Amino acid sequence: MAQGERLVIGLDFGTTYSGVAYCDENAAREGTAGVKLIESWPGSKVGTSEKVPSRIAYQTPTTSGATPTILWGNQIKHTTKATVHACMKLRLDEKMKGSQEFRMLLAFLTSRVNGLDIDPSDVLDEPDGPPEYPGKSPVDMVSDYLTRVREAAWKEMEKTYGAELFASLRRELVVTVPAVWSERAKDLTLKAVQRAGFKCSQINLVTEPEAAAIYTLKHMREGPNRHDIKVGDVFVLCDAGGGTVDLISYKITQIEPHFRVEEAAIGSGDKCGATYVDKEFLAWLERWIGSEAYSKIPNEKTRHGSQMMTAFENAKFSFSGNPDDDEIEIRIPGEAGISHDEDLNIDDQVLTINTNQMEQIFLPSVNRTLELIDGQVDSVIKNGLGKPKMVFVVGGFGRNPYLYRKVQEYCQPRGIETRQPPRPWSAVARGAVCRGLELGVNSTGTKIAGVVAVRLSRKHYGTPLAQSWRPSVHHPDDMFIDEYTGLKMAKGQMNWLVDMGDRLPEDIPRVLSVDVSTHFEADETREIGATLVGCSEEVAPRRFADDAAQVICRVRGDFSDVPLSSLPKSRNPKTGKEFYEATFKLQATFANTQITWKLLFRGKEYGSTSVSYDD
Ligand SMILES: Nc1ncnc2c1ncn2[C@@H]1O[C@H](COP(=O)(O)OP(=O)(O)OP(=O)(O)O)[C@@H](O)[C@H]1O
Ligand SMILES: [Mg+2]
Repeated sequence: MAQGERLVIGLDFGTTYSGVAYCDENAAREGTAGVKLIESWPGSKVGTSEKVPSRIAYQTPTTSGATPTILWGNQIKHTTKATVHACMKLRLDEKMKGSQEFRMLLAFLTSRVNGLDIDPSDVLDEPDGPPEYPGKSPVDMVSDYLTRVREAAWKEMEKTYGAELFASLRRELVVTVPAVWSERAKDLTLKAVQRAGFKCSQINLVTEPEAAAIYTLKHMREGPNRHDIKVGDVFVLCDAGGGTVDLISYKITQIEPHFRVEEAAIGSGDKCGATYVDKEFLAWLERWIGSEAYSKIPNEKTRHGSQMMTAFENAKFSFSGNPDDDEIEIRIPGEAGISHDEDLNIDDQVLTINTNQMEQIFLPSVNRTLELIDGQVDSVIKNGLGKPKMVFVVGGFGRNPYLYRKVQEYCQPRGIETRQPPRPWSAVARGAVCRGLELGVNSTGTKIAGVVAVRLSRKHYGTPLAQSWRPSVHHPDDMFIDEYTGLKMAKGQMNWLVDMGDRLPEDIPRVLSVDVSTHFEADETREIGATLVGCSEEVAPRRFADDAAQVICRVRGDFSDVPLSSLPKSRNPKTGKEFYEATFKLQATFANTQITWKLLFRGKEYGSTSVSYDD
């Protein structure tokens, strides 16, 4: 390794756990074996861990005015007194933040209210669910957390490379985001990462299931199973994590000289990850011991990270559904007041849970995961690509023996194989590194070809425009009189640029443009604005006013530099006022899981363009 060479770092900021992997350009020659994982995190017990808990606590200082001490990841113990902020990731996404399910989950993870024993209206009355840390926005908290993650990762890499060499390396970062992340949530994620001091020459995004798929494929290509996959084969990848289960399907289009794949169906996912199993355990416990006993258990003893929940989490990890396995024993907090009860299988405060009961606790999440897999299989078949050959299962929940067995039971009768890459928990972080290696150029000028050649648009994308009023076509609510021309117009008529399911090739980014006209008087600010709208329903609406049309971002361009003399002039027939007309091209480029924008005037980018994601 020489000074100035490339070092690609992958960051998987997960709902419950986060991971960091890295690979330098020399190690990349070893393939996926060259991708290393950060495995020592502050506060962990002996041994190593593939990922570190995504949680942070601000411990109030004893002296007033002093800054709070930050505890994070494994430094947070069940004895930690400060409020533990978990699930920070989901706070970055407005859609999730607003959902009842999310607020309930957040309540459970932050111990605000008692497990499932909550009146949803309690939490839902507050616009943002349980309170955040005073003075800290979600981005602040995420960046505080990611700063710690980065410091720990930097420390490990400094050990590997030596501080001086490490400082000289050309660092490139790839951050994974959920496939369903809004453009705004991606923007907030990037902001938090930038603030966390990852000073890298490039920061790119990749979706979590795609990263996992890239790693899985690359690994398969290197191993003895490389002949199991042929051109035309389709596989489904299921990333079962803490918050969500995400799915994606690919068709293999090329094997030599390297794998190339195309998305075979629009990805899908749902909030049914392993945290929902924990939540289900609490619901079951309440039914088992009765609401009265359950309600006596203090909140902090049912929260994520508490002694009881940690014991449950450990039992959950190895649960396989096999009745011959050891019985599951969980100590119930003394406050419940049940020390011995034969009928309840409680002895000396220890509750024994049998396989059947544990299966009931797992089933809601497992069944939803199977439905999602079935949905992908169905979409692939409907898209005329035949039956998928394999289902790959990754993620923390994905390594669970019971979930894996249930997936196998689904696949086997259908003639589909079930597979898992090694260390499936960190597949996303490793895959982020594999993606990063494809994105850049080595110091020798060599470039690795990307695995995913074609993605499918997950939404319809378009922009609303005004049209000349036509009573037979337009909705009366959309009618307005243009203040400059005095003409009757229809506002908010959708112009869809990309349809859901459209192919978006990686090599040839899809560039689309639409003409946007603006009128202004000589003394007015010269600014043009456009709104990017998305729609996830199958049929996109004609009107912006329709609920299915949702604002993704707004673009503003300043064109004060365009000389007035070059613009056509008219007069308002009613007021006689003189006004100018300018027609711009709004250009959107769909590439690399992100959309970039330009405003063009007469073929050239004019003025400054700003994009805002706030509604
Ligand atoms: N062997 C296992 N069996 C069951 N659950 C497991 C196992 N290992 C980890 N988990 C659970 O998986 C979750 C962590 O998985 P992972 O790290 O993939 O999720 P995440 O990345 O935090 O979430 P997301 O991808 O939804 O943002 C935790 O809820 C953890 O309890
Ligand atoms: Mg994940």
